[in-house]
Amino acid sequence: MKRRVAILISGRGSNMAALIEAAKAEDFPAEIVVVISNRADAAGLEKAAANGIPTAIIESKPFGKDRAGFEAMMQRVLDEKQVELICLGGFMRLFTAEFARRWYGKMLNIHPSLLPCFPGLDPHGQALRAGVKLSGATVHFVIPETDAGPIVMQGAVTVADDDTPETLAARVIKIEHRIYPEALRLLASGRLKLDGDRCRTLGSGATDATLIAPAP
Ligand code: GAR
Repeated sequence: MKRRVAILISGRGSNMAALIEAAKAEDFPAEIVVVISNRADAAGLEKAAANGIPTAIIESKPFGKDRAGFEAMMQRVLDEKQVELICLGGFMRLFTAEFARRWYGKMLNIHPSLLPCFPGLDPHGQALRAGVKLSGATVHFVIPETDAGPIVMQGAVTVADDDTPETLAARVIKIEHRIYPEALRLLASGRLKLDGDRCRTLGSGATDATLIAPAP
């Protein structure tokens, strides 16, 4: 049985689209049963609908600081759709600790940096200001703290001296679209095991793969 997944978005939804595409494969262990947006103008909503995925809009703005009220509405949709796993795809709304705890181990997020470096806003600007030579993207389990939680998968790219936040973002987003479906595959097929603050992957071993920048 495929695991039932909700994707939560606030905008463009390119990670959502990558997950929807991956889930079309017959052997993919999860199916996307609903896309929920907290903004009516999220461009991703149309993409989801075009793929035949049911969508729901729950505007968060009217709830103001009442996060629990907003989450109760969302939980109703998640219950109706019998959702088992949640993927956040550029969902720009913080959760209450209660909601994060309720979904602990079942809710993934993607962030465009090699966490724990550069959480929060402007990760690419943060990376460039820090002068790192490698950056990338991280899929992690959601905990109450923003862009933190057990790391499931990371992918790295090289950073060039003349990179701007935009050119770096363009390189990192390609990695995001590769690792998010793979991370969901691992979760949905039961290969992830939480061990305190760490996430272990059953059946994975070390490789000799390396990425060095600047190229020697
Ligand atoms: C992605 O780059 C994602 O990693 C980032 O928002 C973008 C959403 O793009 N998420 C965060 O920064 C979370 N802190 P998308 O709507 O095209 O998937």
